[in-house]
Amino acid sequence: MKRLGILTGGGDAPGLNAVIRAAVKTAISVYGCEVFGIKNGYDGFLDEDGIMPLGMKEVRGILPRGGTILGSANRGNPYARKVIRDGQEVTIDVSDEIIKGINKLKLEALLVLGGDGTLHIAHELWQKGVPVIGVPKTIDNDIGGTEITFGFDTALNIATEALDRLHTTAESHHRAMVLELMGRDAGFIALQAGLSGGADVILIPEIPFKFESVMSKIRERAEKGSKFSILAVSEGAKPIGGAQSFSRKGDEIYVPRLGGIGQVVAEYIEKQGFESRVTVLGHLQRGGTPTSFDRSLATRYGAAAVRLAGRGGFDRMVALRCGTITDIPLEEATAIPKRVKLGDDAVITARNVGISFGDE
Ligand code: F6P
Repeated sequence: MKRLGILTGGGDAPGLNAVIRAAVKTAISVYGCEVFGIKNGYDGFLDEDGIMPLGMKEVRGILPRGGTILGSANRGNPYARKVIRDGQEVTIDVSDEIIKGINKLKLEALLVLGGDGTLHIAHELWQKGVPVIGVPKTIDNDIGGTEITFGFDTALNIATEALDRLHTTAESHHRAMVLELMGRDAGFIALQAGLSGGADVILIPEIPFKFESVMSKIRERAEKGSKFSILAVSEGAKPIGGAQSFSRKGDEIYVPRLGGIGQVVAEYIEKQGFESRVTVLGHLQRGGTPTSFDRSLATRYGAAAVRLAGRGGFDRMVALRCGTITDIPLEEATAIPKRVKLGDDAVITARNVGISFGDE
């Protein structure tokens, strides 16, 4: 293996640069490879200046940096690209052009750092002969087959710190403080941050809630003398029999954007006579420097992905299982998204320590 490409697709996550750095260093020093960075996800193969050489100089100092030096795109599905033709928007398949770009670069392996969408595309490109290797990225931690994705730990730490900060102001003002957290249809961030930040209520997409159960918890606390409460609410949480909240509807260009359930919950609490405020943590969960855990995990993933490419293990994704890096078929990783299970020990533990999921 002498020519390796790397791309980063989908929403960014802390640790992308650490993966790139480790992959470049391993590829150069162990395999004597020439490495190319593809800019802005798969789009880089279509753009004139979409490719950049990646040498030791380019990756110097990027280990602690958030974001991605390659740029990313979360609307770059090559199988369904929106373009304007004769004044009309049409969806076209540009996967063959992408394959041409890969062949032109004579890539012998392409590392794809992405979430479910980006990895699914990678698997489809493999079926057209592209030698892809996946690296699981997302703050949501919702990729199957791996215990953890890089980026999740950083988001979790930011969310936990936010809960700690909300605690002190909640206590001073005797308020119910709602923190809306990311995660799409998976509740891992809210669940784990809620546990480590001492939330009183955790609402996640996997456990639809009853408004009245949320209120019972707040009332019960007030009766026992705690006149404040902390609620960690996943953006994808929804009431039993109700729907998820969206801040923007989907259209031809954008996928639907989750958001607003925190406000809905806070308004309900206020109507019941308890003062409440909502904080939407948003993209703060994705920005900035990765934690030490994410730096180390991302570095291990980056080096392991290059070793996997060196062995010709294409159409596979590096994964963490029982604390060890291994690899699994991309198809397995993308087949079923990972979700919080009701029997997970974290859920049981949360209930044991008196946290309400609003379902009882
Ligand atoms: O998948 C990562 C994520 O941050 C989700 O938690 C969130 O719903 C979404 O991306 C936000 O996407 P965007 O950056 O397009 O607003």
